[in-house]
Amino acid sequence: MHIAHDGRADQLPSLGQAGTVGDDGPTLSICLRCRDGRENCDTDQRGGRRLAQLVADAFPDSTAARRGLRLRGVNCMSNCKRPCAIALSAPGHFTYLFGDLDPLLHAGDVLSVAAAYVEAEGGYLPRPARPKVLRAGILGRIPPLGFAGDLVEPLSPRFQHPTNGSDSL
Ligand code: FES
Repeated sequence: MHIAHDGRADQLPSLGQAGTVGDDGPTLSICLRCRDGRENCDTDQRGGRRLAQLVADAFPDSTAARRGLRLRGVNCMSNCKRPCAIALSAPGHFTYLFGDLDPLLHAGDVLSVAAAYVEAEGGYLPRPARPKVLRAGILGRIPPLGFAGDLVEPLSPRFQHPTNGSDSL
């Protein structure tokens, strides 16, 4: 896959490759391609990669690591206008997307919210459970598939087994 200079993928990523990762625990994804405005100083390294490096450096001694969090870098998460971007996800958990992070200021906040995510039931992180920068910087909160609660209303017939022959609301 080719990543354009603005960080956007210009062709479809190989979903087959994505499926080989084989690590489906609670995961912190960090965009490696986000720019933080410091790219023209004394390094060409992008802000996202610097954020990832700072998080990775602190990770081994972190509460998040002790709780079983995984880390991964992602080459653009289509949130390029609100850099730097991270996401938290796990099967059966809420998925969160955050932006507006400064690599030099917020690596500790990122690990802190990731540790809270691993411990939270279903990964649900109410506003007070998140560091301040991750209250203002929240960009998305998606309930897990199969979630039943006030946040979700079914809008289509529920899936029925094909041999059943009928759908019902
Ligand atoms: S460069 Fe696109 S989300 Fe980071």
